[in-house]
Amino acid sequence: MSKTYNIASIPGDGTGPEVVREGRKVLEAAASKFGFKLNFEEFDFGGERYLRTGEVLPESATEQLRKFDSIFLGAIGHPDVKPGILEKGILLKLRFELDQYINLRPVKLYPGVATPLKDKGPEHIDYVVIRENSGDVYTGSGGVTMKGTPDEIAMQNMVYSRMQVDRCLKYAFEYTRKRNRKKTLALCGKTNVLTYVFDLWERAFHEMGAAEYPDIKREYYHVDATCMWMVKNPEWFDVIVTTNMFGDIITDLGAITQGGMGIAAGGNINPQGVSMFEPIGGSAPKYTGLNVINPLAAIACGGMMLEHLGEENAARAVENAIMDVTANKLKDLGAGKMGYSTSEVGDLVAGRIM
Ligand code: IPM
Ligand code: MN
Repeated sequence: MSKTYNIASIPGDGTGPEVVREGRKVLEAAASKFGFKLNFEEFDFGGERYLRTGEVLPESATEQLRKFDSIFLGAIGHPDVKPGILEKGILLKLRFELDQYINLRPVKLYPGVATPLKDKGPEHIDYVVIRENSGDVYTGSGGVTMKGTPDEIAMQNMVYSRMQVDRCLKYAFEYTRKRNRKKTLALCGKTNVLTYVFDLWERAFHEMGAAEYPDIKREYYHVDATCMWMVKNPEWFDVIVTTNMFGDIITDLGAITQGGMGIAAGGNINPQGVSMFEPIGGSAPKYTGLNVINPLAAIACGGMMLEHLGEENAARAVENAIMDVTANKLKDLGAGKMGYSTSEVGDLVAGRIM
């Protein structure tokens, strides 16, 4: 009997449904080629639903989603909803409640894709950022006093427990070993200023590395320097592990070096639970329904999801098909500039799954 995976799909807002449709098309092609089944169930969470019902996320959402093998997300964000409501109420809430404590962000320049980095090509830009996804300023620890007065004080604290640091580092070391490239894990921090938090990270990093991962080379970079080297010498990197806020920032820098929002994919991973895969680009409302948005990021997310589910050959086939299309077909990654429509790009990739 062939294996069946139950996937919750959250197409979301704007162009989300269009890119999810193409992602599913490619996933179905991979499933039939590699002999497994995907059972999709759709959820209408997002801005439209919120405007219609006044509810950001139903009470039962997390418990429902917990039952799936994976979650495939399009985009959350609506021009008529105040910034923060949907991000906090859907995206961050699911990340927290499902304890997706890793944000996995491959930074890989595919052939034929233009990078703003001078003299750099696919042989230089191919690394992975592992962003801790549960702690830091994202915990909401802090507060405000004397609001509205000249003495107002606002605090938002960088919070990390040893447990959070250790579980993230363990994932990062294991990932670096499994990736089996340069076998180099770089910790990105700010030990010269954030002396409490990065003392914890640095000690944990070296203790774990020395005791359990002697085959993995350890490096350390300050976050500001990391930004410089990601631009100047991206080929130095293999795997970077970092905190939540720094990771949020450097992964957008990484995304633009790999061709931008049309291509960058990410995974919110709970190694012991349900993970959620999402393209980095937002809902791009102005392109909604025009069949011009680039679906490759969503398709690449599908590939990451297959890898996470253990369908590694199918995942590789998806990535190879994407690379064939970027190298030989697309003129540009931008919406309306690809030389093909959204659904045609999906067809091109699906037709190259082999
Ligand atoms: C990301 C996004 C989110 C984050 C926002 C939308 C809350 O920027 O996934 O990187 O800050 O994590
Ligand atoms: Mn971000």
